[in-house]
Amino acid sequence: MPLIRLDRFISERGELTRSRIKELAAKGQIRVNGAVVRKSDTKIDPDSDIVEVQGSRIAAQRYKYVLLNKPAGYVSSTEENDGPTVMELLPPEQRTKNMFPAGRLDKDSLGALLLTDDGELAHRMLSPRNHIPKIYIVKLADSFQSKYVDLFAEGITLSDGYQCLPAKVKNVESSEKLAFIELCEGKYHQVKRMFAAVENHVEVLMRVSVGGLILPEKLAQGQSMELLHKDVENLFTPPDFDAFCREFSGVFSAFLIKI
Ligand code: URA
Repeated sequence: MPLIRLDRFISERGELTRSRIKELAAKGQIRVNGAVVRKSDTKIDPDSDIVEVQGSRIAAQRYKYVLLNKPAGYVSSTEENDGPTVMELLPPEQRTKNMFPAGRLDKDSLGALLLTDDGELAHRMLSPRNHIPKIYIVKLADSFQSKYVDLFAEGITLSDGYQCLPAKVKNVESSEKLAFIELCEGKYHQVKRMFAAVENHVEVLMRVSVGGLILPEKLAQGQSMELLHKDVENLFTPPDFDAFCREFSGVFSAFLIKI
């Protein structure tokens, strides 16, 4: 991580202005790795240096990023209008005042949901211009048909006339009713409506990746884990869809078959 100025590090993580930080430093009230630092323009390593202001440690990360394996029955929202929200699933130490779900999963959907208080990253991630692909595994009511591959690649037209962007879809070899689907957009109930447009029905839907962020096998439903900024940056380097399906079909299909 590149070095940054001490006053910038502190001001970005709290309420103190740079002039106040300068004053506190001059009074000997700021320490870096235990040693008093009197000049607020001193360069520090934000990942490894320990900064204390008036005896309180400043958190190394400016924002929090939490990956939740969402169970069914929770709403992807910060407000409780339609049942319990995903926020309730986070332990207090993972929650911050301004945290929100970056993206949506339906109340009955499962899987990877990123929660953060980093509005800029959420915007970058959700902006259709950035085309961050998301991969879902679905359990269908009727068997997968090979014609879906071309239909989805051409762009499905939904019942309200919306023309979807081209999407990738692939049957899970071990089960005729399981399939992976990759989308680069996120319209309301989109996966369910796309399969409805080809006269099938999604019974279970689980998001298994958001860009390069893949739902870890060890993260049980309802559990969440904190991510580092560098893990979050992986969002922007998505996996190859075919390679992903080959590598993860065993893990994720085993999970869906149990439901
Ligand atoms: N598409 C859906 O239909 N539901 C979700 O929760 C996510 C994508």
